[in-house]
Amino acid sequence: MDCQKDLFSLPDDHHYLNCSYLSPLLNKVEEAGIQGIRGKHRPWETTPDHFFEDSNTLRSLFAELVNAPNAKDIAIMPAVSYGLATVANNIDATKGNTIVISGEQFPSNVYAWKRFCNEHSCKLKVVNPPEGFEDRGQQWNERILNAIDSDTLLVALGNIHWTDGTLFDLKNIGAKARDNDAYFVIDGTQSVGALPIDVQEIKADALICAGYKWLMGPYAITLGYLGPRLQDGIPLEEGWIVRKNSEDFSGLVDYEDDYQPGAVRFDMGERSNFVLVPMMIEALKQILDWRPQNIQAYCEQLTADLERGLPDYGYQIEDPDWRAGHMFGIRLPASVSLKTLQHQLDEHNIHVSVRGSAVRISPNVYNSEQDITMLYDVLKDVARDA
Ligand SMILES: Cc1ncc(COP(=O)(O)O)c(C=O)c1O
Repeated sequence: MDCQKDLFSLPDDHHYLNCSYLSPLLNKVEEAGIQGIRGKHRPWETTPDHFFEDSNTLRSLFAELVNAPNAKDIAIMPAVSYGLATVANNIDATKGNTIVISGEQFPSNVYAWKRFCNEHSCKLKVVNPPEGFEDRGQQWNERILNAIDSDTLLVALGNIHWTDGTLFDLKNIGAKARDNDAYFVIDGTQSVGALPIDVQEIKADALICAGYKWLMGPYAITLGYLGPRLQDGIPLEEGWIVRKNSEDFSGLVDYEDDYQPGAVRFDMGERSNFVLVPMMIEALKQILDWRPQNIQAYCEQLTADLERGLPDYGYQIEDPDWRAGHMFGIRLPASVSLKTLQHQLDEHNIHVSVRGSAVRISPNVYNSEQDITMLYDVLKDVARDA
């Protein structure tokens, strides 16, 4: 795969290595949004079918991306917090007494479980990584596996850790959760799009993904796979469009007791958003065309020299077997001040994130070797000068 920068409007003098924060906008996603806004100049052209067709296309595309059995297994939501609140509302609290999460997990995937634990007298088991760097990823995964037992109600993780990119072995963790009859819930926001995932293989009950990072969509749209164990559940809100026969606009006051089949019942109100949905569709089409495995390979190859070379300057990075290629954290040598590094990065228009004590680097297909060389040079210089 070649660099895809031409499909974006990124200036040459900025080195954007921060897709974990917000992806830049693909030109064709921008165009879809503009067309969506303009559509309201001629409201008579928006027919009842439009309330369904694009939403269903979006479901199909996301289902293909995560290998969900059916487009109807996908719900259209506004945020990860909404998706996880939906899951929390629909699990059977009698099935166990503990909820397992990883240490320093993204807050949307923590607060939902804290609240659930308070309301149901459950215990939150937070599994932290070991202190040192030796076999850190492997040991962290082992600790998570060991934390799951017959008392576990639910395991909630990311596919990778959102600050340092540590990979979680979802296949084995999912199998252990399933063997213990625990729910398995994944926040895919920092991986889906750039790293292949298969909800059937990992046996997930739910996979929730914000659209504005690795899916390259707009802000305020999230896609969720909610599997068979949740599909009889109660949605957070009672939207008319998720009820049976809502396609028949003349019959909307023939109030229905039943919902649409599958996970469609969990859609947010006004999910047919005529601006965001077409943008998200264009973004997913592009990602499916590139394919996540190619995106992953591109990022791995782009950063290989940097990752091999940085330890010589005192930086620490997770072992390659336990980290993803599209996002990884590096820890600074003790002599390097974060403030000095940040200043140098700003001076050179290099955009990365600082999360805790790690600098998070998250390239994507619009990045070129020049972006990585600029970053590498700054990291080497601050380490030498420290
Ligand atoms: C791992 C992860 N999950 C979720 C989100 C966004 O959550 P929400 O949609 O609830 O704002 C982020 C944003 O940075 C994230 O990094």
